[in-house]
Amino acid sequence: MKRKRRITAEQIAQRIVKKGKLPRHVAIIMDGNGRWAEKRGLPRAIGHKEGVTAVKRVVRAAARIELPYLTIFAFSRENWKRPRSEVSALMKLLEVTVRREIGELHENNVRLITTGRIDELSPRRKSALEEGVRQTAGNTGLVLNLVFNYSGRDDILRAVKRLVEEAATGRADADGIDEERFDASLMTADLPEPDLIVRTSGEMRISNFFLWQAAYAELYFTSTLWPDFEAKHLYEAIEEYQRRERRFGSVG
Ligand code: FPP
Repeated sequence: MKRKRRITAEQIAQRIVKKGKLPRHVAIIMDGNGRWAEKRGLPRAIGHKEGVTAVKRVVRAAARIELPYLTIFAFSRENWKRPRSEVSALMKLLEVTVRREIGELHENNVRLITTGRIDELSPRRKSALEEGVRQTAGNTGLVLNLVFNYSGRDDILRAVKRLVEEAATGRADADGIDEERFDASLMTADLPEPDLIVRTSGEMRISNFFLWQAAYAELYFTSTLWPDFEAKHLYEAIEEYQRRERRFGSVG
């Protein structure tokens, strides 16, 4: 019987780079850590720990193809509703991971940025993130956007409030508020819109992630649980993206 040759992640990487038309910004809703752990009879926190290993794989994979922007959605404002022990495990993991990995990120020219209400985190978590951002601020390679304590509706609401305030104090007028101005009032003002949004674990929702920003993003859902996500999964998602035709409301 003829055995089918398995294609490696590196081969897919070469194929997608050769094809061109790479996305500029890929955003990932990392889902399925809990189920990954439960399937193995392990505490959910172990699933999150494995999730960090998957993050590392994916950052390397993104840098390999010179992706300009990678966003990872690590904690939503709704995630505070989880049991206290899980929230605290996630917070600790955030701090430990950022402190432990920042050196390697820096060596690899990765620039860490954050999106979300970092101001609401405890001083220790906040300073870990801020230090990481400061340390890598001059890097020119992959921009890694860590989305933490973020909700899309909250982002929109804050932008509206800011614009209303600007209008009330004469710094904006209603007619001058267009999409560009609104964009610039969002927490993602300095980022290009995501071209591709990937969600793992078989759930097919946006779950209050980038709502405004996702207007023309291509969506890609995979049943792979986040801790099982590897370089080849990212490349497969990008390959699917390259097959799609983006029309932005126009005709093909
Ligand atoms: C979703 O899985 C995952 C999260 C809510 C947290 C994601 C966090 C990490 C991967 C670790 C932190 C990352 C960094 C970079 C510090 P779930 O718990 O909702 O899984 P389930 O749907 O199977 O229950």
